[in-house]
Amino acid sequence: MSTARPLGVGLLGLGVVGSAVAEALVAGRGQLAGEGARPLVLKRALVRDLIRPRLVTLPDGVVTTDPAAVIDDPQIGVIVEVMGGEQPAFDYLSRAIDGGKHVVTANKEVLCKKGDALFAHAAKRGVRLLHEASVGGGIPIIGPLSSDLLANQINSIRAIINGTTNYILTKMANERASFDQVLKEAQALGYAEADPTADVDGWDAAYKLSVLTRVAFGVSAPLDAIHREGIRGLETQEFRYAATLGYTIKLLAAARREQGGVLVRVHPALIPNSVPMAKVDGVLNVVEVEGDLVGPLWFQGRGAGPKPTASAVMGDLLRIARGAEIRKNARASRPAPALQLVSMDAHECKYYFRLVCKDRPGVLAQIAGILGRLQISIASVIQMDTNPDRREADLVIMTHPSVEKSVQQAVREIRDLGVVARVAAVLRVEGY
Ligand SMILES: NC(=O)c1ccc[n+]([C@@H]2O[C@H](COP(=O)([O-])OP(=O)(O)OC[C@H]3O[C@@H](n4cnc5c(N)ncnc54)[C@H](OP(=O)(O)O)[C@@H]3O)[C@@H](O)[C@H]2O)c1
Repeated sequence: MSTARPLGVGLLGLGVVGSAVAEALVAGRGQLAGEGARPLVLKRALVRDLIRPRLVTLPDGVVTTDPAAVIDDPQIGVIVEVMGGEQPAFDYLSRAIDGGKHVVTANKEVLCKKGDALFAHAAKRGVRLLHEASVGGGIPIIGPLSSDLLANQINSIRAIINGTTNYILTKMANERASFDQVLKEAQALGYAEADPTADVDGWDAAYKLSVLTRVAFGVSAPLDAIHREGIRGLETQEFRYAATLGYTIKLLAAARREQGGVLVRVHPALIPNSVPMAKVDGVLNVVEVEGDLVGPLWFQGRGAGPKPTASAVMGDLLRIARGAEIRKNARASRPAPALQLVSMDAHECKYYFRLVCKDRPGVLAQIAGILGRLQISIASVIQMDTNPDRREADLVIMTHPSVEKSVQQAVREIRDLGVVARVAAVLRVEGY
């Protein structure tokens, strides 16, 4: 039994994650930090609705709807924010930091949108702001990047960090079902929200990638600097054709050093079936890190769910209970010149185009003319399905590495060709 003074914990939120954290604390996991560490004791938990049934039973008087009763309680030394959203999470975290309390959050949205202010505030007040659960649920990734890998220059991060979209894409690939159909199934199973925007349009992945970029490269990546595309527009043909060509489609979140800066992007990508990332299916998450000393690393696991996420939150809490560790992002405070964010226009990779074309002679020559003029070299052209009634055919073009800006210009010009009924897909092929 520890003789150290207990450290009071205040929870902001008692939903999926909050309940699992409360359960872990009640079960005594707050005393696992080792000799000399302060035992963690749950004092208060903030909710909106006192009547709502809870997944965890807490002693009378612990649950409250009064934020001040948690944030301003002098017996509470660390605040765990598991409410989600930008506000009032930002105000509550700021107030807790102001009051000299350490904070732990699982909230990637507030970190993406208000991270600059929160980290600066925490550093100024000399308190810790830890957030392992904000990316990849139970996967330890923030800790390794901010401590074990500090001696490295991180060159690249590539990740699948949204379980909902990975579940949908896996189903679309395996069952050749439409996006709408799979989304409905995912909603019925609780894998997708009633309003799926944050997941399927890539916002959630962009928030998490912003958090990773800060930790790995020491730069702030605001949402508007992240190239973001979701998976809503993907059609079943892409999965069939990608498989024929040896690829799987994933929603990729990537941040890589290029052109003297960091390029940060979220978009569906063709991943070669020969690499491990192509096999990360369903709701699993993965983060692939490349450091200059350590080489490539691979962190895979359950990216959401109450217990894995509580594992990450508890890890942060126990670190605080132990009292060790750095107080601010070590990479951000290095003397090296700050990295700039690089525009997506400069990105270079192979591209996959699917064009629905009129089935008549001379079509390819017109398309090839545009691509050639814009220095986009064709690697292969395959005529896939034809629709004899409409006299149309799917033309799939794979390119050699090309520059994004030229590709977007080519797409605009191809769209205007009378022989092209539709540019059905333009997908980037991830290079390995
Ligand atoms: N769920 C996951 O698997 C997972 C994984 C990783 C990270 N996260 C992150 O963890 C955070 C929490 O997620 P969650 O799934 O646990 O959410 P949730 O189930 O919706 O729980 C949110 C909790 O916060 C409370 N709350 C929300 N707004 C409030 C307000 N204005 N005042 C007082 N209480 C408020 C809610 O109270 P009521 O219960 O009274 O409504 C609820 O207890 C989010 O940032 C999420 O992105 C979640």
